[in-house]
Amino acid sequence: MNPIHPDLAPLARIAKTFSREFRTTGKVTDLGSVLREAVGEKRGWLRAEHRVGDPERYMRHLVYVDPDDDFVITAITWLPEQQSPVHGHYVWCAYGIAEGELTEEQFRAPGALLEPLGTKVLRAGEIADLDLGGPIYHRVSNRSSRPLVSLHVYGVAADRLTTGINRLYAEA
Ligand SMILES: [Fe+2]
Repeated sequence: MNPIHPDLAPLARIAKTFSREFRTTGKVTDLGSVLREAVGEKRGWLRAEHRVGDPERYMRHLVYVDPDDDFVITAITWLPEQQSPVHGHYVWCAYGIAEGELTEEQFRAPGALLEPLGTKVLRAGEIADLDLGGPIYHRVSNRSSRPLVSLHVYGVAADRLTTGINRLYAEA
């Protein structure tokens, strides 16, 4: 996966700055414009294999690992009717839609109950709200009849990909 696909290089460069700044000073560098390009006109990184999902669950493809373990870039394939559990994030994360149509529901959990904040449909070329590892929960789903591919940047080391990102919502 390294060297990086040229269409992802600007995203990796800004993600590097983002992770350094956010960790050291708390400054939030704008990732939105390079992420929008990476899921828009510069999605040459998207390969046929990224459209082939796993019938059991949504499937993560690692597309870039930062050499200092500051972040990873992954493509996620969601077949029709697949969805994530309701979760928040331990780390910062940004994502956009490379292909298909994604539904994101947001929630907050001020007490024991989840409170819906709203539902959005995002299409190819669009990006979701940046999450800095805050209190908001979300559930991502593919409610369309076609495969969906989303592109995610997570402020986590690759070896913590499966346990270090999602903070699952557990009903009290
Ligand atoms: Fe998430």
